[in-house]
Amino acid sequence: MNREKVKHAFTAAQEIVKSHLKDFKGGFPAPASENQFYPKIENIDWTAGFYTGMLWMFYEESKDTIFRETAQEHLKSFDNRINKRIWVDHHDMGFIYSPSCVAAYKLTGNTKAKETALKAASNLRSRFQEKGQFIQAWGMIGDTNEYRLIIDCLLNLPLLYWAFEETKDISYQEVALAHLKTALSVLIRDDFSTYHTYYFNQKDGSPAYGATKQGYSDESAWSRGQAWGIYGIALNYPHYRKDSLKTTWKGVTDYFLAHLPKDLAAYWDLYFMEGDEPRDSSASAIAVCGILEACRQKLCPESYRQKAYAILESLIDHYAAKTEDVGNGVLKHSTYGRLLGEGIDEYCL
Ligand code: GLY
Repeated sequence: MNREKVKHAFTAAQEIVKSHLKDFKGGFPAPASENQFYPKIENIDWTAGFYTGMLWMFYEESKDTIFRETAQEHLKSFDNRINKRIWVDHHDMGFIYSPSCVAAYKLTGNTKAKETALKAASNLRSRFQEKGQFIQAWGMIGDTNEYRLIIDCLLNLPLLYWAFEETKDISYQEVALAHLKTALSVLIRDDFSTYHTYYFNQKDGSPAYGATKQGYSDESAWSRGQAWGIYGIALNYPHYRKDSLKTTWKGVTDYFLAHLPKDLAAYWDLYFMEGDEPRDSSASAIAVCGILEACRQKLCPESYRQKAYAILESLIDHYAAKTEDVGNGVLKHSTYGRLLGEGIDEYCL
């Protein structure tokens, strides 16, 4: 694995995204492609921020102003969305607003984008349930069928840490840390596999039971969920530097690594380690980011870096789209929701 190879893959991804900017003019890619092409949708789903965030990254690396201008154009739709409360009754405020609006503020000093992201952070904080001490993942607050948290939310907590830094309002940090502690206490099983979601008793807030939404079964480990755990714990560590987090991170990561097939691209659920089930390359990509972040934070031994590079190399060699490939995504063979029948062996996220 060498720098040149990564650079080459990054540039190829950039070229693909640039050549398909027109596909999404005035809109955003759907969470998963259909027959390898992402449909264009409005700013209504949880993945909108990833697209704008990619454009900011390409701008940061290449200084090509087309990426900056396009990302800039997106910002008003993010503001409109939170102002008009268009599909914002859920926890994904960090996924949506961190790579788009927080990034815009950090990269370009755009204070309007900062205000937009703060509104999203406030919305996320408002989903905190005192009884149970967690951020409710989906649905209207108090919905009796939705009194649960999900592992993916670990990735949304950095929006709250950022809001605390910007406003000095400690309640953002308090909510994030309370959720983090609750989530890790219920989601991680003894063998360090993870539940996708976890329900609480609405009357007294006591933990009730784990359940999956996108995985194979309630007791299996949905690959992308486990990967969100790897990345999420690493992103929370700077705000909660406890040895317990190190132990949990190592366990969750080792479980993921031990359940990968030979080419290191996860099947869609870690229950599968061989055979014909579809892969979820996005899970392995997320795990790479999580391991590299953990190395950066000194949350794990440096030796993990080589494990991340091995996965990355396989993704580059066998899963990264080439400019001549059919489709408008950058990482092939992902799975969005196998049993939901959505985005199977497609580009996703
Ligand atoms: N956060 C939803 C997913 O990973 O599909």
